[in-house]
Amino acid sequence: MHVTHLSLADFRSYARVEVPLDPGVTAFVGPNGQGKTNLVEAVGYLATLGSHRVASDAPLVRMGAERAVIRAQVRQGERQQLVELELNPGRSNRARINRSSQVRPRDILGIVRTVLFAPEDLALVKGDPGERRRFLDELITARSPRMAGVRSDYDRVLKQRNTLLKSAALARRHGGRRGAPPARAESSAGADLSTLDVWDQHLARAGAELLAQRLDLIAALQPLADKAYEQLAPGGGPLALEYKPSAPGEAQTREDLYTQLMAALADVRKQEIERGVTLAGPHRDDLLLKLGQLPAKGYASHGESWSYALALRLASYDLLRAEGNEPVLVLDDVFAELDTRRRERLAELVAPGEQVLVTAAVDDDVPHVLTGARYAVSEGTVERV
Ligand SMILES: Nc1ncnc2c1ncn2[C@@H]1O[C@H](COP(=O)(O)OP(=O)(O)OP(=O)(O)O)[C@@H](O)[C@H]1O
Ligand SMILES: [Mg+2]
Repeated sequence: MHVTHLSLADFRSYARVEVPLDPGVTAFVGPNGQGKTNLVEAVGYLATLGSHRVASDAPLVRMGAERAVIRAQVRQGERQQLVELELNPGRSNRARINRSSQVRPRDILGIVRTVLFAPEDLALVKGDPGERRRFLDELITARSPRMAGVRSDYDRVLKQRNTLLKSAALARRHGGRRGAPPARAESSAGADLSTLDVWDQHLARAGAELLAQRLDLIAALQPLADKAYEQLAPGGGPLALEYKPSAPGEAQTREDLYTQLMAALADVRKQEIERGVTLAGPHRDDLLLKLGQLPAKGYASHGESWSYALALRLASYDLLRAEGNEPVLVLDDVFAELDTRRRERLAELVAPGEQVLVTAAVDDDVPHVLTGARYAVSEGTVERV
């Protein structure tokens, strides 16, 4: 698929901007702070319902404005679709497809698909497990948009289960501290705890589905990431992706993963009640990224970490393409970080893509193989050159 037109209203630094786009390569070039990343961030938002730079929507709305609108005309084969998303920080966002009545934002997932690589991706290698879980889960959703529903079920159940655990933890402590009759404190905690069993099942059901998808994804991604790394940094690998679950075991199928997760929850139940928080499940897992025999985190050099993150994104791109979902590839400020050889290699790898959006501060940073449209971005204007 590719985007044929992007319009923004009150998004980041843009009051209004209209950007017609062609398939093939488009480069946005301009000095620092002029709004290049803002453009591609908007495209990425439509694909993931999140920004690759910030966790909340507030910074995405132009200072002084109340809401932002991102609109994209999308072409997939013969099919044209218009997607529209209104960001209302602090309230719910609204979405529309083809100007029809409102749909849930997550219903637009799958219309715009992107693989976005940006300097922030260094955190995939060097950052907290949450960065890697988000990487996996966004890719799972790109492969299968219905997983957005499973993810939100899991998050909802997790939140409710944590609330219950917290109140059970509080009831215990309360009973102890205030010297209330133990029987009363115990019985209210006891009532909570019988509902906990039901929440365990809900959590394990959604959790097992998420886990099964993550494991399947990692198996598919591993050879592609290794290949991409070899292309970028010959002889530098091999590269291995290992899932680190909080519920230990060898299970692979959804049913076995469910059983494994239920067992893990039973094991940690006592600690959970003490601490008032859910201690096993996909929200506590990590993806171990190994380079050679060593974990990349804490061991890999800056350049190696950068190439690793890039290899993960290129692998994601290959995977989605191989599965027939050609996404838009976004390379934000990537070339300036690479030496000439790696730059040329990357450019050759991505040049045949259906649509590639590149940002760079100066023309010379965009390799010659990537010929295509150029836009000059300056003080909120985007002009074709
Ligand atoms: N909510 C907002 N309201 C108004 N301006 C904003 C908002 N969010 C960001 N900006 C402005 O947008 C500009 C940054 O835009 P962007 O990140 O797209 O720059 P860039 O062209 O990619 O620069 P660089 O080359 O440094 O990466 C900054 O000047 C920032 O102040
Ligand atoms: Mg930028």
